[in-house]
Amino acid sequence: MLPFASCLPGSLLLWTLLLLLLGAASPQDSEEPDSYTECTDGYEWDPDSQHCRDVNECLTIPEACKGEMKCINHYGGYLCLPRSAAVINDLHGEGPPPPVSPAEHATPCLPGYELDEQENCVDVDECTQALHDCRPSQDCHNLPGSYQCTCPDGYRKIGPECVDIDECRYRYCQHRCVNLPGSFRCQCEPGFQLGPNNRSCVDVNECDMGAPCEQRCFNSYGTFLCRCHQGYELHRDGFSCSDIDECSYSSYLCQYRCVNEPGRFSCHCPQGYQLLATRLCQDIDECESGAHQCSEAQTCVNFHGGYRCVDTNRCVEPYVQVSDNRCLCPASNPLCREQPSSIVHRYMSITSERSVPADVFQIQATSVYPGAYNAFQIRAGNSQGDFYIRQINNVSAMLVLARPVTGPREYVLDLEMVTMNSLMSYRASSVLRLTVFVGAYTF
Ligand SMILES: *[C@@H]1O[C@H](CO)[C@@H](O)[C@H](O)[C@H]1NC(C)=O
Ligand SMILES: *[C@@H]1O[C@H](CO)[C@@H](O)[C@H](O)[C@H]1NC(C)=O
Repeated sequence: MLPFASCLPGSLLLWTLLLLLLGAASPQDSEEPDSYTECTDGYEWDPDSQHCRDVNECLTIPEACKGEMKCINHYGGYLCLPRSAAVINDLHGEGPPPPVSPAEHATPCLPGYELDEQENCVDVDECTQALHDCRPSQDCHNLPGSYQCTCPDGYRKIGPECVDIDECRYRYCQHRCVNLPGSFRCQCEPGFQLGPNNRSCVDVNECDMGAPCEQRCFNSYGTFLCRCHQGYELHRDGFSCSDIDECSYSSYLCQYRCVNEPGRFSCHCPQGYQLLATRLCQDIDECESGAHQCSEAQTCVNFHGGYRCVDTNRCVEPYVQVSDNRCLCPASNPLCREQPSSIVHRYMSITSERSVPADVFQIQATSVYPGAYNAFQIRAGNSQGDFYIRQINNVSAMLVLARPVTGPREYVLDLEMVTMNSLMSYRASSVLRLTVFVGAYTF
């Protein structure tokens, strides 16, 4: 009988049966060395490793197998097999039967192992040697004595194949999910970006990231808003700002002229005026402010939009000056007999286009003799009838503008006051020479 070590695994029973069927030659008797007594048949003591080592009977026993039989060493024994015998190498009990090929070198190793050059059984890497039956969709993993077919990450075994797992079905993503072979990717709606966990979406502050707002940017959840500075309006594109032409909105923004500027407007006044409270124009009193060119011998007269330098001495023969604005015709002078006894110079200014009738100047008699009667009339300067006199009482009258007048224009009106006293048969005339400047504007 063949010497088999009792410690051999039961899987070798197959070999035993084979041998029984085929018949085997008995190894020749050999003397056992003393030092081997502790090893069972087919093993010898190895002093180096201090273990029982399998004896390769095929080498140590001459003609261990006879005739057409080939010798196959085995743990604790050897086999004699026909040279044409197939080596059954079923590594996977459950899998499909592996291709059976004629054994050129039958091996005594455990399934999944093979003899190396030193006659040791070493693991067969089925994966690299294409000895596996993993599907193309599967990964092959070599194991000691075996191998394993697994699905790559993100794939799941359905039937014989590995199929991509649709992770998007599991609602991993806050916004949108894109399934990819073996994985997935989350995407966010515009205005959001993936959070650190690559699944949630966080608001993007577009204002910090170069949002195309021309002037002001406000971030909001998922988007942003452009706004404009005061005086600008948002363009229809939602980004750019264009200047508002405030002047086109209303003609009442400025009393005289509105000038549009980037983001604002300003009011301008004509020469001789100054801006009052941003929109109104106020005449500059050049005489008051000293911004006039009148000489020492002149009197400065201000009017709407300008001023006039008049000679302080305006009296013309036969009149003589008695005060700054008063000329007297001496009664002693015969030339004065038919002339008003005095001429008083006065100046006034009105604006253009006043609504009429408009009271513009009140004449007042300064001294009244008892029983005297004063009559007032416009003696000169009113050829167009733009003015008339309304007598108020014996001592006063009102100069009334009868028609709307437009400047610049100037009237010199001689307003005569005739004083009569019937009892004393007295008649006296005095003239108020009123210069009326009409400004160019309504203000
Ligand atoms: C998110 O994705 C980036 C790029 O793909 C990766 O580097 C990072 O490790 C991921 N973070 C997490 C938490 O998965
Ligand atoms: C005004 O004149 C009349 C005469 O026409 C006279 O009766 C009257 O007293 C005068 N009034 C005054 C205030 O002088």
